[in-house]
Amino acid sequence: MNLEALLSARLSAAFAAVAGGDVDPAVRRSQHADFQSGAALPLARRLGRAPREIAAEAVARADLAGVADAEVSGPGFVNLTVADELIADLANAVAADPRLGVPVTGKPETVVVDYSAPNVAKEMHVGNLRSTVIGDAAARLLEWQGNTVIRANHLGDWGTPFGMLIEHLVDLGDTGEGSLADLTAFYQAARVKFDADPEFKRRAQLRVVALQSGDPQTLALWRRLVDASQRYLLTIYDLLGVSLTAADFAGESSYHDQLDSVVAELDAKGLLRVSDGALCAFPAGFTGRDGEPLPLIVRKGDGGYGYAATDLAALRHRVRTLGATRMLYLVGSPQRTHFQLVFAVAREAGWLPGGVSAEHVEFGSILGPDGRMLRTRAGGTVQLAELLDEAVQRACALAAAKTPDLDRAALARVGRQVGTGAIKYADLCTDRRSDYVFDWDRMLALTGNTGPYLQYAYARISSIFRRAGEDAAPGPVAVTEAPERALALELIGFAPVLAEAGRTLDFHRLTGYLYGLATAFSAFYEKCPVLSAPPAVRASRLALCDLTARTLRQGLDLLGIATPDRL
Ligand code: ARG
Repeated sequence: MNLEALLSARLSAAFAAVAGGDVDPAVRRSQHADFQSGAALPLARRLGRAPREIAAEAVARADLAGVADAEVSGPGFVNLTVADELIADLANAVAADPRLGVPVTGKPETVVVDYSAPNVAKEMHVGNLRSTVIGDAAARLLEWQGNTVIRANHLGDWGTPFGMLIEHLVDLGDTGEGSLADLTAFYQAARVKFDADPEFKRRAQLRVVALQSGDPQTLALWRRLVDASQRYLLTIYDLLGVSLTAADFAGESSYHDQLDSVVAELDAKGLLRVSDGALCAFPAGFTGRDGEPLPLIVRKGDGGYGYAATDLAALRHRVRTLGATRMLYLVGSPQRTHFQLVFAVAREAGWLPGGVSAEHVEFGSILGPDGRMLRTRAGGTVQLAELLDEAVQRACALAAAKTPDLDRAALARVGRQVGTGAIKYADLCTDRRSDYVFDWDRMLALTGNTGPYLQYAYARISSIFRRAGEDAAPGPVAVTEAPERALALELIGFAPVLAEAGRTLDFHRLTGYLYGLATAFSAFYEKCPVLSAPPAVRASRLALCDLTARTLRQGLDLLGIATPDRL
């Protein structure tokens, strides 16, 4: 059992006895003590008694022998100082567990994680980064917790832009294949022609009709475009260390033949109405600014299906066919209303039964130094591939300066791990709902709450073990010195942090924890010599080092960030 749960259980029994009913003791880590409970404050109002008095009575009743010292503080908080012995015992238990005290969930779910999902035939740009990075962390964490995770890369691989792209491919003739190597240039050239040449535009529109009616030659051309995009995306995922594979592509096109039946089913349930020529659903409780009911357009006036119909089909498929009990959609905040409407319609249609959840895991934008959307100097969209190249180059320079004796191959590997790690960490370490400013110097700094700082902490511990040589066996943990105690207390707090992150997908909590751990390690390492200590102390300190390294490694791995042994 983890410490927070243990303290909560003991205090909740005490508070319940005082209040005569169930009480959440709200035990949290605290600046003022190891843990603090603020439960007496809201209880005071309910019971009409002074909060300090309630807290004192709870402290008197609480069975905390051998667990913690409790003391009333301030307006009525209960401050808890955990017994050193217990900290050491728990640290030893965590150290002996390959899962570091993190349980496998007793209620495994089938979770569909919808993430990355760029629009095909455009190069992946910086706007796709957040979904890819946060989504991959979600998939990794939920999987490690023992859930069945289905990665769904909902590519935008269907729709009107393909008309102009296919026509452009036709125009290029035999040279077409080669020009697909640079997809952005390909897309832009098609766009220019589409805007400038009415005859091309007309052909492109006819091509959309041919695509949608399943013309075999058109489909074959479309397939070449999609294949080229997928190959390109897989190279980006590989470079970025993202766990998406070719098997995870489930683009919009894959729901194409389910759209008629989506409409039929919604219609049979009386959920559709014609509005301005389009077939729409108006889920209860949604109104626009003008007070009018908000529509979800299921079929356009011209008979075509759009983004919403595809999402309804995907949702129904995920629940009915894939057996999802939890669905996560890693998509930016601007699509909030879209997902609220889709989920509401799905609920009304009975596709989201009780016990199945759909969550829009939203996030803000990446901003440039001017506080506006990140752009290139020329004002264009930033290509993800270029961004990653620059990150790797900068990180190589950093690693070469720090560790001059790394050979070329090691330097290339470490540069990639540190560069991509820095980008991912910068994305994960602020509240995902906020925007953040993309800042090379800050994300690559070796101090502060950054990827490189945590990787460096890990590498430092690896070097202790390299220097320890033969005699590196960790022994039982004892907590004597204050920095040892503080570090051990951090180490035994990994499980509750992960449990929370799995519920909320707030990865800045996990990065905050890992940063706190690395800081506690730093303070420990400064005050407590490891290799020169007498044997029993040395073994205990080596155990603390080892457990810190394993926790950093596991935590960063869940975020998709590598931990090189040297940097
Ligand atoms: N392709 C979409 C875009 O770039 C994101 C898709 C997100 N997933 C979904 N099921 N709608 O905006």
